[in-house]
Amino acid sequence: MTSTNRKILVTSALPYANGPIHLGHLLEYIQTDIWVRFQKMRGHETYYVCADDAHGTPIMLKAQQLGITPEDMIKQVREEHMADFADFNIEFDNYHSTHSDENKAFAEQIYTRLDEKGYIKRRTISQLFDPEKQMFLPDRFVKGTCPKCKSEDQNGDNCDNCGETYSPTDLINPISVVSGATPVLKDSEHYFFDLPAFEQMLKDWTRSGALQEEMANKLNEWFESGLKQWDISRDAPYFGFEIPNAPGKYFYVWLDAPIGYMGSFKNLCDKKGINFDEFWKKDSDAELYHFIGKDIIYFHSLFWPAMLKGADYRQPTSVYAHGFVTVNGTKMSKSKGTFIKGRTYLDHLNPEYLRYYFAAKLTSRIDDLDLNLEDFAQRVNSDLVGKVVNIASRCASFISKKFDGMLSSNIADQALADEVMAGGDSIAALYESREFGKAMREIMALADKVNEYIAVKEPWQLIKEDGKQQEVQDICSLGINLFRILMIYLKPVLPELSAKTAAFLNDELVWEGHKMLLVDHKVNKFKALLQRVEMDKVNAMVEDSKENLMNANAAPAAPLSKHLNDEPIADEIGFDDFAKVDLRIAKIITAEHVEKANKLLRIEVDLGGETRQIFAGIKSAYQPEDLVGKLTVVVANLAPRKMRFGMSEGMIIAAGPGGKDIFILSPDNGAEPGMRVM
Ligand code: MSP
Ligand code: ZN
Repeated sequence: MTSTNRKILVTSALPYANGPIHLGHLLEYIQTDIWVRFQKMRGHETYYVCADDAHGTPIMLKAQQLGITPEDMIKQVREEHMADFADFNIEFDNYHSTHSDENKAFAEQIYTRLDEKGYIKRRTISQLFDPEKQMFLPDRFVKGTCPKCKSEDQNGDNCDNCGETYSPTDLINPISVVSGATPVLKDSEHYFFDLPAFEQMLKDWTRSGALQEEMANKLNEWFESGLKQWDISRDAPYFGFEIPNAPGKYFYVWLDAPIGYMGSFKNLCDKKGINFDEFWKKDSDAELYHFIGKDIIYFHSLFWPAMLKGADYRQPTSVYAHGFVTVNGTKMSKSKGTFIKGRTYLDHLNPEYLRYYFAAKLTSRIDDLDLNLEDFAQRVNSDLVGKVVNIASRCASFISKKFDGMLSSNIADQALADEVMAGGDSIAALYESREFGKAMREIMALADKVNEYIAVKEPWQLIKEDGKQQEVQDICSLGINLFRILMIYLKPVLPELSAKTAAFLNDELVWEGHKMLLVDHKVNKFKALLQRVEMDKVNAMVEDSKENLMNANAAPAAPLSKHLNDEPIADEIGFDDFAKVDLRIAKIITAEHVEKANKLLRIEVDLGGETRQIFAGIKSAYQPEDLVGKLTVVVANLAPRKMRFGMSEGMIIAAGPGGKDIFILSPDNGAEPGMRVM
């Protein structure tokens, strides 16, 4: 493959600034990071930018609920996101925010250009308005009875019971999820982007061959059902950018979100002296790629290229969508402990395991990807520990103990060396086309060959024989050399393991290095490179993910939380279900730390004659001694649950974002242990 120098700008979707990074998100950032590291290794001028997506109604309401400004909330969340990404070795060239000066300037400029060319239409529409909160309600903030099947408590846009889709104004007895008030209809002028005007251009783009086949098919379906004008304005109160010359009207979050790619890149250009226009001007010959999840294809393949076109910027070279992560075959679930936050994973496991597992299962297609936890442990152990690292551990000790760390000047098996060196071209082509799974299989097939070679040669036997010393040095030197080449191939996936390997080998592991061998070369003392995945730790991570839920400390109080957390929430329940929850006043009689538990306190409560043990995740907020004697509220009929530290026989109700801000409920004096709460 030729290495003409390309200029490449790559983005991942901008995560919302109101929730933690979870393993689903991480598929995307890991996929993109591997691709970017590969391009950089191949010597192309490549930049990888991202940002937090900071605007919109959910973020505004969540900040209100936490009693902080949206600015403070997005600042804090951005720091958490950046720490999570860094710890998964995701290396952005820049990580910005959509709530930035650069982004505001581009949003205004693009909007103004579109408006000047007549692509912004204005018309008055009627929408549900919350008279108590004095705000218009997005569809998902309205609930009511389905107009078709009459089932109660359905969402504003579709019915879970009969599947009907409708507009929130069709609901019978609608209520505002924000305040519980009955919404009223109210008129307001909205601004629309004239998407249909770009139909021809979008069709040409779809046929250019740059898009994934499944994405092109999806676009064709949308063309068939007809493109519609897109509502890009929202009325105050809204957390976002005000529209120029339209007081009280704001850009809808999805208008300025993709522009955030430009904002983040501009911020990088200003810091590093890169030429912004070279990447974004109409006739740019730089490449621009957006990695996204399948749920946001519409925004990236229709609105975004059309906006860019209308504002005289270049179009993306391609948009690459991936599928969704499932865990153990089903949607990530909080109650099963499979809704796993990035941070919870890191508390228990090495990030490189996940990077490898995702790489091993990724294709260039939009299929969902199952993270089966047993398979995860087995795959990482058998491939990385059992095949790749095993080569080094079998050979390194002889080299360092018997040959003073020197690799031989002989090549013991030139044919085998040639075969491993020759693998590079095909592996590079697979990385380039995002067929990471196939690339990993080719690398592991080569690793198998190297292991076979060592198994046949048995250097550990030869070393005992007289006159075989040179042969042992030659065999082990070849083993280490081939391990080195495999690690070059794996470097985009495993930056940490490659860094350790580079330190051991005194070699930078550059891509072109796969074509040569180290002869007469001194290596350093070998240290263990990678531990096996232990199922115990995987299970502890799952338990920890349950803890977050069991103790209500991650979710603010209902009903807002359902809509404000950027996490899947358990299914809705009706009143009858709610009535099944037996809430009781309890008196805390014992509270103590639990050895090795990060979050839990062990608590004994008196429920009016009956004593229960409960593990509650409130350690970060309470000293055990301050709890003893307090009244609180517990779920008394929760099925007992075996936790890592013992049985938990109920749940203490608490609220707050976490950390020091967790608040257990404390009823006023007069309440007695055992009283029913309703
Ligand atoms: N803020 C928007 C993106 C704006 S881009 C201009 C958004 N944010 S998100 O936080 O909900 O998702 C960020 C990315 O993570 C999206 O590409 C989304 O598809 C991806 N994923 C979120 N959950 C996922 C899985 N369970 N599995 C795989 N990807 C997932 O959408
Ligand atoms: Zn219905």
